[in-house]
Amino acid sequence: MNAVALDIQKIRQDFPILHQEVHGYPLVYLDSAATSQKPKSVIEALSRYYLETNANVHRGIHTLSELATSQFEATRSHVAHFIGGVANEEVIYTRGTTESINLVAQAWGDLNIQTGDRIVITEMEHHANFVPWLRLAKRKNAEIVYIPITGDGLLDLAEAEKLITPNTKLVAFTHMSNVLGTINPVGALTELAHKQGALVMVDGAQSVPHLQVDVHELDVDFYAFSAHKMLGPTGVGILYGKQQHLEAMEPYQTGGEMIHMVSFTDVSWADLPWKFEAGTPNIGDVVAFKSALDYLDEISMESIRQHEIEITQYAMDSLKATGVITIYGPEDVSLRGGAVSFVVDGVHSHDLSTILDTQGVAIRAGHHCAQPLHSRLGVNSTSRASFYIYNTLDEVDRLVDAILQARRYFVRG
Ligand SMILES: Cc1ncc(COP(=O)(O)O)c(C=O)c1O
Repeated sequence: MNAVALDIQKIRQDFPILHQEVHGYPLVYLDSAATSQKPKSVIEALSRYYLETNANVHRGIHTLSELATSQFEATRSHVAHFIGGVANEEVIYTRGTTESINLVAQAWGDLNIQTGDRIVITEMEHHANFVPWLRLAKRKNAEIVYIPITGDGLLDLAEAEKLITPNTKLVAFTHMSNVLGTINPVGALTELAHKQGALVMVDGAQSVPHLQVDVHELDVDFYAFSAHKMLGPTGVGILYGKQQHLEAMEPYQTGGEMIHMVSFTDVSWADLPWKFEAGTPNIGDVVAFKSALDYLDEISMESIRQHEIEITQYAMDSLKATGVITIYGPEDVSLRGGAVSFVVDGVHSHDLSTILDTQGVAIRAGHHCAQPLHSRLGVNSTSRASFYIYNTLDEVDRLVDAILQARRYFVRG
């Protein structure tokens, strides 16, 4: 499908939350990298589920349970199609990217990482793709090393090649940085990893909402993302894993729904994907997630990416033109997504976001769950504006005006 320009005003009509005032100003929501807003169709699907269909899945032989099960599984099929046409068995429901990565670190890591093995991650990881590996390395007495970033916020591929050694068992990295916006070369890194016999885990929390992702084409072993950053409800995540790896892994959690047979002395596991889905899942939110995928399909990921390039370029140009703002991450927007982190000369990021809030502009301040990256950048915190399908160029102007006003307050003369 070819990209067509998004009709942002029409899209905005689908997001009731955007049409409100905050502190007397029309809301400008620039925090979609933390969580996106939800269209009416998703909110209605959630309420419809509870009004008409609510029942537990996979258990009851009654109409509502069968309906709930078929809607719950329909979302799985849609996800499988959305990420490149994988098998339903390869799509595991979790609570979010964080749980997906923890699942792999535990269920795959415990079986496959031994003393002296190497785990390679990068300097730009979110804590969700950092702490589980650090902890696994400590638990197993394994080594963890970090692919460095270059001055312009890209991964240093020459260093990556040196760091991915024959004793490397896993290479884990983000597809798109939540701080720098950097889109990493998944194919090239996966090739380096596979050449050494290592598996690849990709954190897709920021990429799946913004890019067309085909996990087959990327040839990755595991890929994780969250529904709530792509118009869906909170509390739903996806772990894609190649079937042969998932088959070979032990369950992550045990209990109901994930067993085949239990006796007083023994237990056998359910088939994929249910082997990894212990307990009653988040049925209503999974069902509503399908409406988010429908929405994204309808406007097309190509058009979303095109809009993102346009608004990110405009934002970077406008922020730079102030002469008082340092932006982190690649300058070339074709190498980055719509999360733009920056520091305003003379204004602390927390003060900035507080003042911006008084003008209805919602941005994020802090380390964005990437403390090691911030220490690598030599700053304690940054401000981050992040864009999605409902943001306009006028909102970027509001952001820049509000920043300049805040700076006049803090830096006089
Ligand atoms: C790059 C990245 N990875 C992982 C996560 C964690 O996602 P979740 O909190 O939905 O588990 C985030 C969330 O901000 C993120 O931006």
